[in-house]
Amino acid sequence: MADRDRLSGDAAPWWSGATFYQVYVRSWQDSNGDGTGDLQGIYERLDYLGSLGIDGIWLSPTMPSPNTDWGYDVSDYKGVHPDLGTHEDLSRLVKEARNRGISVLLDLVPNHTSSAHPWFVEARSGPSAEYRDWYVWAPPKEGNAPPNNWISATGAPAWTYDETSGQYYLHNFLPTQPDLNWWNPAVHSEFESVLRYWWDRGVAGFRIDVAHGLYKDDQLRDDPPATDADPPQTRRGNLSPIYSEHRPEVHQVYRAWRNIADSYEPGRVLLGETWEFDHKRLGDYYGREAPELHLCFNFPFVFSGFSAKEIAKVVESSLAGLPAGATPTWTASNHDVGRFPTRWCGGDNRAVKAALLVMATLPGTMVLYYGDELGMTDVDVPPELQIDEMSLAQPGHPGRDRGRTPMPWTGEKNAGFTVPSARPWLPLGDHSSLNVQAEEADPQSVLNFWRRLGRLRRSRKIGAPSQLETLLLDDQCWVYRAGGVVTVANLSPEAARVLLPRQIGKVLVSSSPEKEAGDAGQRLSLGPWEVLVADEA
Ligand code: GLC
Ligand code: CA
Repeated sequence: MADRDRLSGDAAPWWSGATFYQVYVRSWQDSNGDGTGDLQGIYERLDYLGSLGIDGIWLSPTMPSPNTDWGYDVSDYKGVHPDLGTHEDLSRLVKEARNRGISVLLDLVPNHTSSAHPWFVEARSGPSAEYRDWYVWAPPKEGNAPPNNWISATGAPAWTYDETSGQYYLHNFLPTQPDLNWWNPAVHSEFESVLRYWWDRGVAGFRIDVAHGLYKDDQLRDDPPATDADPPQTRRGNLSPIYSEHRPEVHQVYRAWRNIADSYEPGRVLLGETWEFDHKRLGDYYGREAPELHLCFNFPFVFSGFSAKEIAKVVESSLAGLPAGATPTWTASNHDVGRFPTRWCGGDNRAVKAALLVMATLPGTMVLYYGDELGMTDVDVPPELQIDEMSLAQPGHPGRDRGRTPMPWTGEKNAGFTVPSARPWLPLGDHSSLNVQAEEADPQSVLNFWRRLGRLRRSRKIGAPSQLETLLLDDQCWVYRAGGVVTVANLSPEAARVLLPRQIGKVLVSSSPEKEAGDAGQRLSLGPWEVLVADEA
């Protein structure tokens, strides 16, 4: 770890302890009435972003793409998708956001391109094509069978036969997403130039898609059968993907990228979509001998149960597994896994406030998904309106569209997301009362709660690196000290009484606002899901 990353409090780098907000661009704000959110729409809503007390936004894919996987099939890494706007729109957004203290992160997809990318189109022309070796090709096994047993994210074989050359190409996701060959040094230089291209234009950093997957086994060995040690989320079919993903060689890539990031002033940030369920292995992506990614998504936290003991356990394991000085991340919703107000809270806003308060008071960087601040739940998208090919290809999958529906700004038709006469690209849920306008007017709303909490988190730098000390943990409640404050959380639907080991001070933010400004004391009675954060003494 570089020395400056070991520092805490005021000296911590800007991204450590920050709050990021994921904007799913197509669903956030449409500015031109075509039913699809866009960059200009985000620009027009910068006041709203400013009101959330966040430090940065991560934009879901903005690059040109045929959209078989909604932008995760990139056809030009230095472009802007025409549905979303232009280079000028993006620059204006980056600059004005910066003026308001909000950094902009883009989504970068280095594991695979679109099959429509000019590199793949050329590569496909035959074995001697210039770009052939940018992708992973292999001859059939006997009987024209795929080269090995690897399974893609849809559950089907990860190989597609190419008639022209009589070889197969690899795709760990859809057949329209051919995997790049990271054994080829030309791929490294190309992606380093992509990083610099955007960093030179003021973009603060990248969320790195499938960060654990870039390298594949050079001998293309079969993946072994999964065992009890493989959590369901990491399996490919019934296999443990230790050869098709999770290869050790990927770490050199991030060491090189980190050096480039840190050569900028202020430093740029790399946030990995690291699909690792073991915190030690997750910690490896922060770098052990040399620094790698600044931040890594914490999927064991996302998939934890939401009870005091389960949350305390996954938090302790996160803190213990990462290298000294590494910044953990806390997030609970995204465009793949759906929304926590449904998964954890069954739509109960008291539980939503509890989850927000816990994430906001843990040491580390927090990533909200658009709508989390409203308590927005998953939307039941009827089968005829579902458009996500990846989940449609998997029978029984709840569908990723449920967590990607438009942002509800008002109670009117189309919710202020797009004009009332337009057809939104995905349907809206019931936004008659769950919308920004209604929540702004309601002092008890999730939005007003989040705003108080977000301001406190920012002004007191609660997420900056610090030790976490559990003061009390039982079947209902978790009480901990971290970041200069004490959090008291009843993570249960029943009222609870707690006797703390010592007195604590003034209540700073509470889900029962009448308690704010009073002293918390030592003996507390808490309502169902009641939470508060207080001064230490
Ligand atoms: C990541 C993205 C997901 C996408 C996949 C393939 O998991 O978050 O939406 O489908 O990678 O790029
Ligand atoms: Ca639009």
